[in-house]
Amino acid sequence: MEGCLITFEGGEGSGKSTQLGHVADYLSKKGYPVMQTAEPGGTEIGKAIRALLLSGRHDPISPKAELLLYLADRAQHIEQVVRPALKNRKVVLCDRFTDSTLIYQGYARGIDFAEMKSLLSFAADAVVPDLTLLLDIDVEKGLLRLKKRAEINRFDRESHAFHQKVRQGYLALAKQGPSRIRLIPADQTEAAVFETIKKEVDVLLP
Ligand code: TYD
Repeated sequence: MEGCLITFEGGEGSGKSTQLGHVADYLSKKGYPVMQTAEPGGTEIGKAIRALLLSGRHDPISPKAELLLYLADRAQHIEQVVRPALKNRKVVLCDRFTDSTLIYQGYARGIDFAEMKSLLSFAADAVVPDLTLLLDIDVEKGLLRLKKRAEINRFDRESHAFHQKVRQGYLALAKQGPSRIRLIPADQTEAAVFETIKKEVDVLLP
């Protein structure tokens, strides 16, 4: 038996990183061996790729180059971090994964989904999450939360229309996408959001 992979997805300021921390504490207390990780930047090479992608120092980055950099980050992350952890029967909690690429580079930047599909699977080495928690929040509210942060990246500075596309993309994915995806309304208190998430996690890991 292998471990399992839970991914956290959502637009800017949806609170997914905070909730990932809560889930890690919760599952650790239940006795599960948990590993927390994130994309982009979950490996040494990944940190360098993350800086290329997010610092804004290399603009303009073509949408195709951007896609391939995210996929390079993922390929390394899967081989070096995620696969070994799954083999060790860990519960891997990953902040963003393939769905982020589908939504940001596909839906929002406009790269054709059919063209991307095999690349996504190739980079992820066919790893598919067991559960995806998709945190949904109104774009204005999310961006307002972001302003309180120290680090503002290249995507945070994108237009309002871009962030709307990201939200619509995620909502469409939750509606038509695979059953592993759970839509979590994130415009509630941190504790209330966690209560909703806990119910979903308990189904997978009783
Ligand atoms: P990060 O600082 O990790 O932001 P967040 O807290 O919103 O996750 O920045 C990651 C950014 O990279 C985020 O704006 C989404 C974007 N991204 C993509 O465009 N494609 C991808 O495949 C991934 C993993 C992230």
